[in-house]
Amino acid sequence: MKLLESVEQPTPNGSIPSDALLATYNLVVRYGAAVALDGVSMYVGKGEMVALIGPNGAGKSTLLNTLSGINRPAAGKIICNGKLAHVPEGRQLFPELTVEDNLRLGAYRGGSRDPSPMYELFPQLHRLRHRRAGGLSGGEQQMVAIGRALMAHPDIVAVDELSQGLAPIVVSDIANHLVSLNKQNGTAVLLVEQNAQLALDITSRAYVLENGRISKEGRSADLARDPAVHKAYLGGQVSR
Ligand SMILES: Nc1ncnc2c1ncn2[C@@H]1O[C@H](COP(=O)(O)OP(=O)(O)O)[C@@H](O)[C@H]1O
Ligand SMILES: [Mg+2]
Repeated sequence: MKLLESVEQPTPNGSIPSDALLATYNLVVRYGAAVALDGVSMYVGKGEMVALIGPNGAGKSTLLNTLSGINRPAAGKIICNGKLAHVPEGRQLFPELTVEDNLRLGAYRGGSRDPSPMYELFPQLHRLRHRRAGGLSGGEQQMVAIGRALMAHPDIVAVDELSQGLAPIVVSDIANHLVSLNKQNGTAVLLVEQNAQLALDITSRAYVLENGRISKEGRSADLARDPAVHKAYLGGQVSR
């Protein structure tokens, strides 16, 4: 892996603060000969909520998988000054295990295996705790997946496709939970989301990833007003 010497690398529209909780510098990830991430520099500050939007195949999951160590970068650098937990695309629960056992697995790297704080955060999960995770609704499964990630007491949680396959009312309920978690515990959130409106509404900063590159970045409120972002991601179908 090629490491860059300079830490203060510029991103397209600014520089990365040296006290960032999580930062990537010119990250390159390949699948064989195909380049999935082509020099991605981005950051999440302490306690910040940041959105990552972009079309299918842009490299969003690749970025999260690289942050969590599933993918190895071909070049570039990742700095994480805290604990990151990843809620993978498609939830990836153990369907035959109970809700409670799925939650407990989130503490496999240490920490308390007591799931009760997750029942405070998601009271709905308490009455479901002995049910098979595979038998739950999509929204309930997403709560388990987020709860499992939070069992590790992360400083930052990276959520891949929060709203995938969920009804809008369920999505806003889960999104509100993330916002309160952020407000109450100061947990930073990196949110990958096809629903750009939702993502830009609940975050303070955002990145647009297209073809493995950050094409735009800035305050979420500004991006929501940006005509190009509006046309591509807020005005209708997301397409390549
Ligand atoms: N395991 C893999 N092997 C080969 N190519 C992959 C793999 N995972 C993703 N890709 C390719 O990398 C690109 C980025 O994919 P992905 O990160 O899943 O995008 P997104 O999450 O933004 O939809 C796509 O062209 C996809 O086909
Ligand atoms: Mg994806």
